Amino acid sequence: MNPLPHLRTRRPIRSFVLRQGRLTPAQNRACQRLWPQYGVDWAPGAVLDLASLFGNAHPVVLEIGFGNGESLATMAAQDPERNWLGIEVHGPGVGHLLLELERRELSNVRVIRHDAIEVLSQGIAPASLAGVQLFFPDPWPKRRHQKRRILNPESIELIARALRPGGLFHAATDWEPYAEQMLALLSQSSEFFSNPAGPGCFSPRPPSRPPTRFEQRGERLGHRVNDLIFQRRA
Ligand SMILES: C[S@@+](CC[C@H](N)C(=O)[O-])C[C@H]1O[C@@H](n2cnc3c(N)ncnc32)[C@H](O)[C@@H]1O
Repeated sequence: MNPLPHLRTRRPIRSFVLRQGRLTPAQNRACQRLWPQYGVDWAPGAVLDLASLFGNAHPVVLEIGFGNGESLATMAAQDPERNWLGIEVHGPGVGHLLLELERRELSNVRVIRHDAIEVLSQGIAPASLAGVQLFFPDPWPKRRHQKRRILNPESIELIARALRPGGLFHAATDWEPYAEQMLALLSQSSEFFSNPAGPGCFSPRPPSRPPTRFEQRGERLGHRVNDLIFQRRA
């Protein structure tokens, strides 16, 4: 099924290159032991029933590319009245998050190990999410790699389709050219999104967003961080 027939369903260019990072023995055991509790074995084409996945109808926030998952676990712990669906392709990051979820005894998080764009395009029902977040996506700074950047007109349309009216798309990056590009692309998507910060403006960092590992790395390099929060129109 292709929900947006004018868009390609298969993306020949992916936003990630799978790194061969090894799972530590603890992460490996965590994956096996905790996957039945937190993991979702999503199969391409299957539309997720979010209420049965979480066992309740609380609003769902999806995080694309959570890395090691520390900030996702922190947000889920801070806001137990929301459900949090994390999607990441990097195995050691998934293992790290599973251990963190167990340590914090969280029950409002589910994890998918897959390409988030494919899940968004085939696995998420229209207007079913309260939020989508994308923190410090790979900036792909070399010109010849920029086509790999995850935010583009196609992914913006997929995110808009998945969000319910009033839902928020929150992105953050420490790579200023990418921040400017995201701001331009989202501002051009005015049929889908409004910018509560004002036209052409970045958003103040909300206190609810914890620092992430890649953000801290960027700050050590002296990079300025920009947040973008756009609201799905009705
Ligand atoms: C630069 S890291 C940032 C991780 C984390 N958000 C942070 O701020 O620490 C980008 C992450 O996005 C993941 N990623 C990139 N494209 C993805 C995709 N299409 N689906 C799922 N994860 C993806 C990568 O594996 C990587 O872990």
